[in-house]
Amino acid sequence: MSKLDLTGQINGLTFNQLFLNASGVHCQSTEELDDLLNDPYMGGIVTKSATLAKRDGNPAPRYYELQNGSINSMGLPNYGFDYYIKYVLSDHAKPTILSVAGLSAADDVKLLHQIQDSDYDGLTELNLSCPNVIGKPQMAYDVDGTRALLDEIFAFYKKPLGVKLPPYFDLVHFDQIAAVLNKYPLTHVNTINSVGNGLWVDVASESVVIKPKGGFGGLGGKMVLPTALANVRALRQRLNASIKIIGTGGVQTGADVFAHILCGAELVSVGTQLQSEGLGVYKRLTTELERIMTDKGYQSLSDFRGNLKTI
Ligand code: SIN
Repeated sequence: MSKLDLTGQINGLTFNQLFLNASGVHCQSTEELDDLLNDPYMGGIVTKSATLAKRDGNPAPRYYELQNGSINSMGLPNYGFDYYIKYVLSDHAKPTILSVAGLSAADDVKLLHQIQDSDYDGLTELNLSCPNVIGKPQMAYDVDGTRALLDEIFAFYKKPLGVKLPPYFDLVHFDQIAAVLNKYPLTHVNTINSVGNGLWVDVASESVVIKPKGGFGGLGGKMVLPTALANVRALRQRLNASIKIIGTGGVQTGADVFAHILCGAELVSVGTQLQSEGLGVYKRLTTELERIMTDKGYQSLSDFRGNLKTI
């Protein structure tokens, strides 16, 4: 195991390794969640985003691997809130993050009331960014709606809460969303969710490659790395220091992990590469990251976190 310090902290909670899964990949069942927790190279886990009731999600095919990443329109298949809160309420050797996703703002409020009234005191992450629920917009693109929702939530919610964000592409939008998020005692933001509503065309069959929404789906993997890094960096430059950043998106190598940390990520999560490579990905990424850190003379992530140079 690591001789270097690869720890990160959210809300005073220490993650002994920096890696998490990206919510959605290998985290739907308790067996999958156990697999992740048992991996010595994982710092903690994020559950599949739980809706109030169990959902089957969108019709298949709904995930497709591309040369430089993936396109998916899973549609939040999950076993429902009760299943996941029971899992995070049991004892685990590592921190857990309970991801929840209402199908409406009213659902979000109901989910958080249930957590507030439960014995769960760990981290929760409100998913404001799933692009794949048919007919539902991505809440965090509506800045005023996000403000109104967080106002309503923090009027009663007193437990640790972060949010999962979609990618933003305009510096003005970073300013706007950061100004809203900075008003609340958020523990973290997780950035980015998949890049919504991409389209892949298979030229041989002259067809889309996934069924839901006529082929439109969220993009992940290598192709989204620059967008993910931009979002980590731009939000780190704008958010209160107390709001930590989980960097998600585009990680294929230890160098990609290093870049996320340099942009300001506290922890890093991996989705598409976990899906294609399997659980061994975390050991490989750790080895590659440690080699880079050792070559540069860094002992700890804090030696370079956020220290991206500009020209
Ligand atoms: C999905 O289930 O569609 C993916 C999860 C997400 O994008 O939030």
